This record gives sequence, structure tokens and C-alpha cells, in this order.
Amino acid sequence: MQIITQERTGSAQVLQLSEKPTPEPGPGELRVRVVAAGVNPVDAAVRAGDFPLIGAPPFTLGWDLAGEVEAVGPGVRWYRPGDRVAGLARFPQQAATYASHAIVPEEEIARVPSQVDLQQAGALPLAGLTAWQALVVAGGLAPRQRVLIHSGAGGVGHLAVQIAKARGAHVTATASAGKLELLRELGADIAVDYHRAQPVGPFDLVLDPQAGVQAETSVALTRAGGKVITLLDFTETAAQLAQARGVHLQRIMVRPGAHHMAALMTLMAEGALRVVVDRTFPLAEAGAAQDYLAEARPAGKVALIP
Ligand SMILES: NC(=O)c1ccc[n+]([C@@H]2O[C@H](COP(=O)([O-])OP(=O)(O)OC[C@H]3O[C@@H](n4cnc5c(N)ncnc54)[C@H](OP(=O)(O)O)[C@@H]3O)[C@@H](O)[C@H]2O)c1
Repeated sequence: MQIITQERTGSAQVLQLSEKPTPEPGPGELRVRVVAAGVNPVDAAVRAGDFPLIGAPPFTLGWDLAGEVEAVGPGVRWYRPGDRVAGLARFPQQAATYASHAIVPEEEIARVPSQVDLQQAGALPLAGLTAWQALVVAGGLAPRQRVLIHSGAGGVGHLAVQIAKARGAHVTATASAGKLELLRELGADIAVDYHRAQPVGPFDLVLDPQAGVQAETSVALTRAGGKVITLLDFTETAAQLAQARGVHLQRIMVRPGAHHMAALMTLMAEGALRVVVDRTFPLAEAGAAQDYLAEARPAGKVALIP
């Protein structure tokens, strides 16, 4: 099989395409022929050594995948060769989905309905599960709530906008000017160019992917008893402000989950959720794909196609 490996941390140049024997699945595992693997900001952070999630190299990046089951290990109950599947594998441990084949636990994936494109499904998992777990699980999103989604055209944000709409929320989303039309197409009721204006609250629920000092604004825009869910660290000032205002402020960390994946697949099959794939790259260009995600500020997702 073909696989992207790295012997040291550093710039995108450390990523190399290698050949390795195709592995056999162990108990409860599947071997998937990867059709698409999403690229996420965490991948470049781990590659560079800024976020030592899986220890020191050698290792292989990648947690997202969609593809076809090729072989099943002992005790696998739900899948057989030929099934179309997608998921976030083993996060935050090594999953090595930057490859033509990957071994994944059956309890972390879901079936991809026939109407759903495997490229979109492969670009979905980490970002989609983050959006779902932030809004629905941690946020307790309810119909008619006023929801604010920062970075609403990013990988997580564009999925969050659609999930919030599908669950009956009134959605305000922020992005830079060139992406406001996309926000409206995705269903945002109000699209705000955050370089020029501030969203008008109060909100019941805010998803804040960038956090940092922005979390202070997020808290200030949230009603007492409302929630702000961040994906990165927030400041001590934001924590104090949240306490003073009676706002629940929480940073979440995405985790794999077959049930959450299945819920996302259902939304996609119903046409309520689509993954905007900004650009795909061949597996051999994994480094270029990471640089593009970091520098080009794409709308939606970037994916590798082995
Ligand atoms: N905690 C977790 O489990 C978890 C899970 C997923 C992601 N994350 C983190 O959440 C963040 C967003 O992830 P993502 O996959 O949505 O990323 P992404 O696809 O790269 O999208 C980020 C978007 O945010 C906007 N943005 C606003 N301020 C920005 C800034 N200061 N720097 C960079 N972009 C900015 C950009 O769009 P505009 O052009 O509109 O500004 C950009 O396209 C990343 O930092 C990621 O590491 C955390």
C-alpha cells in the first residue's frame, strides 16, 4: 500500500510517500481502501511538532477517512467487504489515514448511504463530529435558539451552520467578505463580515473555533444561562467574564463516535448537510494540501485522494 510517513517533525517537506505491506485487520477492526481522507489543521500542527499528540516520529498522520471495506478482522459484527464506510479513527491516537489503506475499529465508523459521495464523506469526520459534539452534545442545541457560529465558512464552521439550521435554530455566522454568499447558501439567516462589523446578540449558544481573546467577545454576546463552546484555549479574562455573566464557557475536544457519525450521514442522505470540498490533492501531495489549508483560507474542506 501507499502511505505518507515522516521521520522527523518540521515543514511540509518532511512528509514522504512510501510503500509498505498492506496490513491485516485485528479483532474488531476493518481494513478500508481509502477513497478520501480529510486534511485538518491539527495534522500540520502534529507534523510540525507543535502539538505532540502521537509522540515522536516516525508516524503517519490522518484521522479522517471514507472508503470501501476490503477485509474484516475476527469478531466484526456489522460490516463486510464491499461496504462503504466513513469515520474519525482512533483520535487522539495514531490512525494513519494518510494512506491508500487503513485499519480502523468497527465501533468508530458508520455506513455511508448510497446517495452520499465518498469524497464528501471522507472530508467530513473530524470537522463534522466537532460541529455536532459542540452544538448538539455540549451545546444542547434546541429549535428556535439564536446561535452564533464564528468562522462559519471554515471546515468546522460550514458544517455547524448547516447542522444548526437542520435542528431549527436561527443562525448568525461570521466569515471574511468573500465567503458571505456561501454562508447564506448554507442557510445562515444573518451573515456578518467580522472584519467590518460585530454580530448582534444576545445569543443562546455560540460556537467559537478560534477562541483566544475572541472568546471574551463571544461571552459578552451570550445571554445569562447561555453557552459558549470553544475549540481552542480561551483567556482567563473570558473565564472570569463568563462566571460574572452566568454564561457556561467550555472548550471541547472532538472524539470518535459511530452514533454521531451515523447522525451526520443521515443528515447528508436527507440533503440537509453537504460538505463543501474546496480542493482535493493526490496522496503524494499531502504536504501541499496542508500548506494550502494553512495559507489559502479555503472555504470548507481540503481532502487527500489516494
Ligand atoms: N478542539 C477540537 O477538538 C477541535 C476540532 C476541530 C478543529 N479545531 C480547531 O478549530 C479551528 C478551526 O478548525 P477548522 O477545521 O474549521 O479550520 P479551517 O477549515 O482552517 O477554517 C478556519 C477558518 O476560520 C477563519 N478564521 C477566522 N479567524 C482566523 C484566524 N485567526 N486564523 C485562521 N483562520 C481564521 C478563516 O476563514 P475567514 O477567511 O472567513 O476568516 C478560516 O477559513 C482550528 O484551530 C482547529 O485546530 C479544534
